[in-house]
Amino acid sequence: MAEFTPEQLLELVNTSQVAQGNERVRKIAHRVVSDLFHAIEELDVTADEFWAGVSWLSRLGASGQIGLITAGLGFDRLIDIREDEADQNAGRAAGTPRAIEGPLYIAGAPQSDSQARVDEDPPRGEVLVMEGRILDTDGNPVPHALVDVWHANEKGRYSHFDPDQEAFHLRRKIRAGADGSYRFRSFIPPGYAIPPNSPTSELFTALGRHGNRPAHIHFLVAAEGMRTLTTQVNIPGDTFLDDDFAFATRDGLIVNLQPGVSPNGYESLDVNAPFTRARFDFVLQKATSPDEARPEARMDRVAAA
Ligand code: DHB
Ligand code: FE
Repeated sequence: MAEFTPEQLLELVNTSQVAQGNERVRKIAHRVVSDLFHAIEELDVTADEFWAGVSWLSRLGASGQIGLITAGLGFDRLIDIREDEADQNAGRAAGTPRAIEGPLYIAGAPQSDSQARVDEDPPRGEVLVMEGRILDTDGNPVPHALVDVWHANEKGRYSHFDPDQEAFHLRRKIRAGADGSYRFRSFIPPGYAIPPNSPTSELFTALGRHGNRPAHIHFLVAAEGMRTLTTQVNIPGDTFLDDDFAFATRDGLIVNLQPGVSPNGYESLDVNAPFTRARFDFVLQKATSPDEARPEARMDRVAAA
């Protein structure tokens, strides 16, 4: 007998098994497939609608833009909200707030000690030096933290994903000093927008949504015995600060810009004229397990696991 009602089919899909498989994967897949079966039935999704969705997913995967969709549909922020809740329940709410990594991190940026010039001549915007210290939640310096920084170019695009930029353009790793200090020079980046004429923009157009993010700079900060921090800071005054397509901006992560700072002491960063400075300390929590102190980004973590 191979004639099924939808419920009988769903039951078969979810219970067929010739080997043990992975219990956790089985449980999650069971739930997701069940929810989709029910959505198709309740919304009376047609065959053409279903296959249009599959076609879109295929193009999305081929374009490498799945991570853009998870951010734009709020999943990345959801994961952060849940981690914040878990921290709060464990009495751990402290330190610099986490913010989403985003889909555009690339491991292996050039590394230097204490400071770095992240951009290249000629400056492609207002010269910015960001500087501060890595501290623990008691306010003590964390020595020799690794600060991995990345941001978009003057057109709002990221190297590696943009064929017009050199490898690791606007991506650097800085080994902070024994006193926890770091600094780097770059330029104030503009905002970012999802790529036009892409599977991502296709969905957001159909949803009547924009794909803009306010100007931001990303960080992955790691140090021995400390919990790795993924965060980003925002440039004040951006129109999209409270209307971020990725819902990722947070209070406490908007930097203060000091214009007209004297270049004295900044010559080693090629700064020879008054510039704009942002002072920002990153506050790390103590790690409660070696896993929390792993310095990898999100995909590298799971690939290595
Ligand atoms: C996306 C892009 C970003 O630069 C970012 O920080 C977060 C999300 C995106 O396109 O989804
Ligand atoms: Fe970004």
